[in-house]
Amino acid sequence: MSHVLTVDLTTREVTVEDTASHSGYPTMTLEEMSAAILVPLMNADFNRTIVQRGVDLTDLACLPISTGWYGKVEENRRLIKVQCYSAKDTVNFYMRPIEGLTVLVDLDTRQVLEISDKGGSIPIPKAANTDYRYSAQKPNQVLKLLKPISIEQPNGPSFTVEDDHLVKWANWEFHLKPDARAGVIVSRAKVRDPNTGEFRDVMYKGFTSELFVPYMDPTDAWYFKTYMDAGEYGFGLQAMPLDPLNDCPRNAYYMDGVFAAADGTPYVRSNMVCVFESYAGDIAWRHTECPITGMQIREVRPKVTLVVRMAASVANYDYIIDWEFQTDGLIRVKVGLSGILMVKGTSYENVNQVSSPENLHGTLLSENVIGVIHDHYVTFHLDMDVDGSDNSFLKVNLQRVQNSPNESPRKSYLKATKTVAKTEKDAQVKLKLYDPSEFHVINPTKRTRVGNPVGYKLVPGGTAASLLDLDDPPQKRGAFTNNQIWVTSYNRSEQWAGGLLVCQSQGEDTLAVWSDRDRPIENKDIVLWYTLGFHHVPCQEDFPIMPTVSSSFDLKPVNFFESNPILRTPPNVETDLPVCVAAASA
Ligand SMILES: *[C@@H]1O[C@H](CO)[C@@H](O)[C@H](O)[C@H]1NC(C)=O
Ligand SMILES: *[C@@H]1O[C@H](CO)[C@@H](O)[C@H](O)[C@H]1NC(C)=O
Repeated sequence: MSHVLTVDLTTREVTVEDTASHSGYPTMTLEEMSAAILVPLMNADFNRTIVQRGVDLTDLACLPISTGWYGKVEENRRLIKVQCYSAKDTVNFYMRPIEGLTVLVDLDTRQVLEISDKGGSIPIPKAANTDYRYSAQKPNQVLKLLKPISIEQPNGPSFTVEDDHLVKWANWEFHLKPDARAGVIVSRAKVRDPNTGEFRDVMYKGFTSELFVPYMDPTDAWYFKTYMDAGEYGFGLQAMPLDPLNDCPRNAYYMDGVFAAADGTPYVRSNMVCVFESYAGDIAWRHTECPITGMQIREVRPKVTLVVRMAASVANYDYIIDWEFQTDGLIRVKVGLSGILMVKGTSYENVNQVSSPENLHGTLLSENVIGVIHDHYVTFHLDMDVDGSDNSFLKVNLQRVQNSPNESPRKSYLKATKTVAKTEKDAQVKLKLYDPSEFHVINPTKRTRVGNPVGYKLVPGGTAASLLDLDDPPQKRGAFTNNQIWVTSYNRSEQWAGGLLVCQSQGEDTLAVWSDRDRPIENKDIVLWYTLGFHHVPCQEDFPIMPTVSSSFDLKPVNFFESNPILRTPPNVETDLPVCVAAASA
């Protein structure tokens, strides 16, 4: 049973103890995960099986894999499934699965409950070419494609970080907090209005609320792989120190996370978040005048942004999360996927041996290695406060209007129709390319000079939707991905889209359940939720480690400013820029 205690820090007393209301269990601690993967070794049958598979017990590398929830077996005790790999001759043990072997372990009693071995005939893929370390590459094969590159800031950075959490840059101000579960929390984001000089509220709090990563293989050793990384593993707990010069550029500022160990002792995760100014050679705005006008006009402004970055390594996978602030008021949230695939061992060495390749559940990436098809969903909690806490959600739907023959030479045009969502169900949105809408969070009581309500719009980028059956147990737990956009009435107990207690949860405390209460959301303190999705059909380039794939969405001002807020920013001129001298010319 899970106990949710509320502690009064002043009186040091437990004020609320709630044991009744949840099916799930809290985030696993790192200590529990470390202990769980050693449990199978206490079982003689397990040891025998490993030796029979030709693996030396000293070469074993095991992973704690969340079980999900599939009914009675997962009830009333905390469980984990352990699967193992051979780390012989490679650090990339993920590419050498001992396929089909799953050990069900009780996390509390640390006992083996069940061993399932259905992969006895499947060879362990070879170690050759799996190591991804630079030091393991042959020196004569290293590809030095580029000359060194770095950004110079001759007068230092333009941002400051006060009290280790208040970031001030250009026209922005926001708080930053590393968090064990969410990774990074950006809060109280305000942008300065160029006309009044006042800071204006944009977002009260934004963070990665939950992830959902279902694999698409229904067989015994794979069906349960439907991770919810924030609630099960702790997205922040899994964020390792960033690598200066490679994860973040030279001009970056680093921030540590301070988390609690299993026994409550605080520990420091150093360099967990970085903040830096980015200049990618992009353009903030421009116009040149054509010679036919007789005007010699060329006005261009370079784009510099401020990036807040963290990278979580949830076992094999790496997630890079960027919050990027632009001076024109836009916030871009970017998710990058890299790291190592979770692969399946197979006896196939070539596609020509496979009679029905569509039944492989993935792609043959190398001899005896299948990259299994899977999805990634990253759900963001975006508590918008556009010029104050009471906001509304406005859909601006574009529809074709058909002209009658003598009305216009045109047969058709598009018209924008605005609807304010009255209740939560009105704001459950599935994205549609042929029925497009803009999604605005507006402050209905604040208007611009010409009378438009001030707002910020959510602009989705490339994304994916879950196609699983709504009654499939993982999709019930991951029901917060049933829509790409939701808007809920603010409730401090509703922060985690998959529920407060996610391990083995049954889906009774998800964003989908809260939204179905259909509370009023017009001119109220509302929370916008957006899910960024990826379908991943692995390909050979993902072996042995994946080049980063990314996608993003924007929070963009819409009638928030009276006019272009960066009109009056100056262009670059040669004298502003450093005269760099190469240390040694080529
Ligand atoms: C299994 O092997 C490990 C590693 O050699 C050893 O420490 C452990 O005692 C063995 N377990 C049993 C039950 O024999
Ligand atoms: C706030 O959220 C909790 C958890 O979902 C729920 O039990 C409670 O009824 C909610 N309160 C309101 C006013 O919606």
